[in-house]
Amino acid sequence: MKAIAEAPSKAIVTGEHFVVHGAWALAAALPRKVKVEVAESTHQRVISNGVLVSDRQRLRPIGRILEAMAKEYSLDSDMTVSITSEIPEGAGLGSSASTMVAVTSAVARLRGISVGVAEISKFAMVGETEIHGRPSGVDVAICSIGGVVLFKRGSSPRRITLNGTKSLIVAFSGCKRSTRRQIRRVSGTKELFPSLFEGLTEAASEVSLMAAERLSAGDLEGLGRMLSLNHAVLSAIGVSSPQLDRLVDLALSLGAYGAKLTGAGGGGSIVAVAPGGKEKSVVSGLRDRGFEAFLAKIPAGGVRSWLEK
Ligand code: PMV
Repeated sequence: MKAIAEAPSKAIVTGEHFVVHGAWALAAALPRKVKVEVAESTHQRVISNGVLVSDRQRLRPIGRILEAMAKEYSLDSDMTVSITSEIPEGAGLGSSASTMVAVTSAVARLRGISVGVAEISKFAMVGETEIHGRPSGVDVAICSIGGVVLFKRGSSPRRITLNGTKSLIVAFSGCKRSTRRQIRRVSGTKELFPSLFEGLTEAASEVSLMAAERLSAGDLEGLGRMLSLNHAVLSAIGVSSPQLDRLVDLALSLGAYGAKLTGAGGGGSIVAVAPGGKEKSVVSGLRDRGFEAFLAKIPAGGVRSWLEK
């Protein structure tokens, strides 16, 4: 018997970094997935895209989740965990959070433990904290719940309903980066300019609330304005990069309503919105200039798991 779980990727629509410091962030689950299979074994093994993982640093987050679940539910933590991912690593699209969520969900399913979003998030955060140091939890929340969510530390996530499906444009700069390092960089800025940072955090929070309202109302032009505003604030705290700024400018020159870096920045991806008739041409324009770009339909579902023989 094996258990399988699939969790979505994600884009932070607005509010990244500031969410670590108490702001609202708006996040959307994206259709690209991580699939995790867990099966009984005599020892712990992790296989990633068909290759046995031996690097301790990569094994540790999953090991931590298995240990935490074993302790909480008095379980045996020996099992084989096989991961197949459609999400590029270090691209700001939630590859680690999606994996942690899918591992937690598959382990619970294999051991017959009934877990809700709160328990899945709790154990997935054990792995995420090992990887990123001090994550806000927004990635884990959106990869568990799915859909579109307003997230704030210490509050219950708020689901945002959309009127029909919408498309986000996502483009990868091709540069990978470490979220842990980017979070530290922002904390450094906060220490240097505490009162200024507080004002920017409040502004970013307000941007997320307004962006959620615009998206829910189907006003992509208004949402685009929020994206561009948010990108300017993120650039101001030093988490953009010349490639990301170039990608944002390119998306705008191709007809997008608005665009911004998504996730930790410093590399990784951008997210943009465009008028319905222009989305495909923005994506092909970005591809023509050598960037990996795609249209992601939202809302996408959250984590799900099942048993197979
Ligand atoms: O690791 P990424 O690129 O998905 O970004 C995470 C979002 C941050 O706000 C930068 C960190 C966090 O924990 O919220």
